[in-house]
Amino acid sequence: MPRIAYVNGRYITHADAAVHIEDRGYQFADGVYEVCEVARGFIVDMPRHLARLNRSLTELSIAWPVTRNVLPLILREVVNRNHVVNGLVYVQVTRGVASREFVFPSANVKPALVVTARKADPAAGAKRAETGIAVITVPENRWDRVDIKTVGLLPNVLAKQKAKEAGAQEAWFVDADGNVKEGGSSNAWIVNRDGVLVTRPAEHGILRGITRTTMFEVAARLGLKIEEREFSVAEAKAAREAFISSATTIAMPIVAIDGDPIANGHPGSITLSLRHAFFDIAEKSPA
Ligand code: PDD
Repeated sequence: MPRIAYVNGRYITHADAAVHIEDRGYQFADGVYEVCEVARGFIVDMPRHLARLNRSLTELSIAWPVTRNVLPLILREVVNRNHVVNGLVYVQVTRGVASREFVFPSANVKPALVVTARKADPAAGAKRAETGIAVITVPENRWDRVDIKTVGLLPNVLAKQKAKEAGAQEAWFVDADGNVKEGGSSNAWIVNRDGVLVTRPAEHGILRGITRTTMFEVAARLGLKIEEREFSVAEAKAAREAFISSATTIAMPIVAIDGDPIANGHPGSITLSLRHAFFDIAEKSPA
């Protein structure tokens, strides 16, 4: 069964799916994206992801490539045509195809839309959560509009590659004051000695993760308090627990930061309880 991608109005086999060499996403990273988890046949938190997509498009003055109520139908179609029950669906919108000029092309140039989906084995994520992950820290070197989910991810690519080479699974960007911003593709959290969750405010300097937003509801349901404030690498290393959140990892325990174990070096119980409660509380749109 071949994989199917949606490219600018057509459903085509993944192997044949292509965009033009003068697509501005390819030339300038002039585009935005979303990744939604697909779990047990549901698209998780889809309305929130589409609301953030709308924000990203608005911030960059890119028009919607299709009307807003049509995009969920395309997502569902791509998920179903690829028989994805567990995995992810990826949406990318770029400013479109035009001869290479830095300034925006004429309003006649239509934004380009690509949607793909792929399967993932939920057992692999569960297994990883049993052992936890290691993170390294890297200096923040991204632009200051990382609140927009753009495809300009080169610093994230380099940071995550560095993590991989160090035997870790994520890199945390750290600001000039020594405070943790977020991961290369995830938000950063710690649990303090009193069992309070701490995460950096999302007003500025990080992406407002959808999983992060939903985690506030999960925490409330579990009777856990959240403090939105900055925390340092030193505080994280001394924390009771640490974890990352993203659509692809949900809450994933961290067991080491820069080689130093967190607490006893095993996944924390609060992180695991958030992970286990997440799916029940997140919004589930049937695919
Ligand atoms: N990344 N911060 C960054 C820099 C991210 O790239 C992501 C997600 C997040 C978490 O956002 P959310 O909870 O909405 O997934 C935070 C996706 C998964 C990716 O690029 O693959």
